[in-house]
Amino acid sequence: MAKPSLPKQMRKVADKALLSRIESGLELVEAALLKATEHTDPIAKVTARHLVDAGGKRIRPVLVLLTSQLGDYNNASVIDAAVVVELTHLATLYHDDVMDDAPTRRGVPTAQNIWGNSVAILTGDLLFARASQIVSRLGEKALTLQADTFERLCLGQLHETVGPQPGEDAVDHYIRVLADKTGSLIAASAQLGAMFADAPDEYLEPLTSYGESVGVAFQLIDDVIDIAEAGASGKTPGTDLRAGVPTLPMLLLRAQAKTDAGAAELVEFIDSGLEDDAKLAEAVKRLREHEVAEQAYQQAKRWADEAVAALAPLPDSNVKSALKNFAEAVVDRDN
Ligand code: IPE
Ligand code: IPE
Ligand code: MG
Ligand code: MG
Repeated sequence: MAKPSLPKQMRKVADKALLSRIESGLELVEAALLKATEHTDPIAKVTARHLVDAGGKRIRPVLVLLTSQLGDYNNASVIDAAVVVELTHLATLYHDDVMDDAPTRRGVPTAQNIWGNSVAILTGDLLFARASQIVSRLGEKALTLQADTFERLCLGQLHETVGPQPGEDAVDHYIRVLADKTGSLIAASAQLGAMFADAPDEYLEPLTSYGESVGVAFQLIDDVIDIAEAGASGKTPGTDLRAGVPTLPMLLLRAQAKTDAGAAELVEFIDSGLEDDAKLAEAVKRLREHEVAEQAYQQAKRWADEAVAALAPLPDSNVKSALKNFAEAVVDRDN
């Protein structure tokens, strides 16, 4: 098995001993993930392993490992919890790529691109079933947290799909969607690590709000990455734009288009359809160079600042510094 590497988000963490403990934890998580996707059914094994083998940043399990350092980190439940959050994340990726009609993920063709929608959807379901089996070993509290998180995740995807209701502000609606579809699982990750390491109960609330805000910042950067040049993300630039998936740059552009002719013209160009690859590339470039891209980036930065502020009740420690670094690095990511 290849040695898993820590996500780039951990690069700024100064405490080398802490990093090395997380790296060791990640090796255990990686082995457990392979075991968890070792379905006895040969077809399910191939499809379930597809995205596990393709890599990914593993930021959710890393966050579990990191917050577990606030207590007695050296126990099997912490590793199980880290596996559960990554499996849950994976399940949603299989489904999300069907919904977003994404051609690539983690640098490889998406499951539905290879095997079709039904196989991709069922593989997502299988992974979720596996996550549920593992979390059931962790007791009722974790089970409830996992179920509530998955419900929020689905509701976030649903609300994104149906869009804002009459009278609802489009950007407010969107931020709620991000908190639900991404913040919820990142918050659960931050919480689970501390929970299973028996860290003090009063840490749980600050860690949860930290995770929610990190999640929103992370997802806003994902919007910026969708219009970045092809690179480290392994995703196809403009995937969301082409599929009409709302992103903050597009929402800001639509708002500006009400009073600004240049923005209105770009909205019209994008809305006229981006099936043609050259037209998609032009739309991506124009949106990337528009001021709304920078505004979206600045909003992501503000959410990362909120995440750091949420940590105030925690006593100063090397773990707290690492969590701060992590939030700041999330908005500087390119993958
Ligand atoms: C992608 O998550 C989906 C979002 C919530 C933005 P990641 O960016 O964490 O994906 P991987 O796990 O590294 O592939
Ligand atoms: C990812 O959402 C899936 C979930 C958060 C459930 P997106 O559609 O926004 O992310 P990418 O760009 O495909 O990774
Ligand atoms: Mg999506
Ligand atoms: Mg998507």
